[in-house]
Amino acid sequence: MSDRTRQPAGWQVEQSASEAYEQYLVPAIFAPWTDRLLETAEIREGDRVLDVACGTGVVARRAAPRVGTGGSVVGLDINDGMLAVAAETAADLQPSIEWRRGDATDLPFSDERFDVVCCQQALQFFDDPGVAVGEMRRVLTPGGSVALSVWRPIDYQPAYVVLADALDRHVGDEAGTMMRSPFPEWDGEDLQTLVRDAGFDDVSVTVEIGSVRYPSVEEFVRREAASSPLAEPIAAVESAVRDDLIREVADALHGYSDDDGIVSPMESYVITADR
Ligand SMILES: C[S@@+](CC[C@H](N)C(=O)[O-])C[C@H]1O[C@@H](n2cnc3c(N)ncnc32)[C@H](O)[C@@H]1O
Repeated sequence: MSDRTRQPAGWQVEQSASEAYEQYLVPAIFAPWTDRLLETAEIREGDRVLDVACGTGVVARRAAPRVGTGGSVVGLDINDGMLAVAAETAADLQPSIEWRRGDATDLPFSDERFDVVCCQQALQFFDDPGVAVGEMRRVLTPGGSVALSVWRPIDYQPAYVVLADALDRHVGDEAGTMMRSPFPEWDGEDLQTLVRDAGFDDVSVTVEIGSVRYPSVEEFVRREAASSPLAEPIAAVESAVRDDLIREVADALHGYSDDDGIVSPMESYVITADR
């Protein structure tokens, strides 16, 4: 994701992708999963928590009150734009969160520094996910635990199948591929193996089912675009092409429309393991 690149709000370029991510995607998609992940991680008062690939920081922010002033929370991400929004959003929070720029495959922390490591919806973007999970293990204290979430393949996310297919047709294959990128083709066994091979014992992989809701199909397309590198290609097409795209998505999602807009199931794997 580009950092402070100006992105469309409306369809015009007015807002950074990171700001749009925090404004649109966090409440619609990520926040509802965060408490589930933190419950699974069994964070306790006094814990030292690392949120890997923290984005705009929703996991770190919600972990902070759980650890209290006797604990600590660090959020790490590779993207300066995401970290800037994270710091701004959490400015008044106690205990305060430390924001660090870094790569998940080469964590800038000493061995055994944390009690819990969380990573929400980011493993699929790392160059070498196995190395990243190995790094998470290295920085965990013996007896510490990791909690990860990764979307199931796109076939389990009806709204995104429709949007990616429509992007292929109306904007181009690259746009469709970009929309599919958060949803890797991994199954539960692939994830078990990945985490075990990184040295973890007691690995548990569960399927969790949630939903995503938007007030209209137009807002679904506009907000997803504004929060990602899709902003530029979508803003660049003629408005008539965008209208066709939205009409096609609306027709295909007719069965998921209701009086509040559109709603669609979303499915994720949640993986926990102990060191
Ligand atoms: C879909 S976002 C998830 C962010 C956050 N965990 C949340 O739940 O909102 C994926 C994040 O992974 C980060 N990322 C991608 N590759 C990374 C890497 N190698 N090291 C650290 N962060 C990375 C991106 O910058 C982005 O913030």
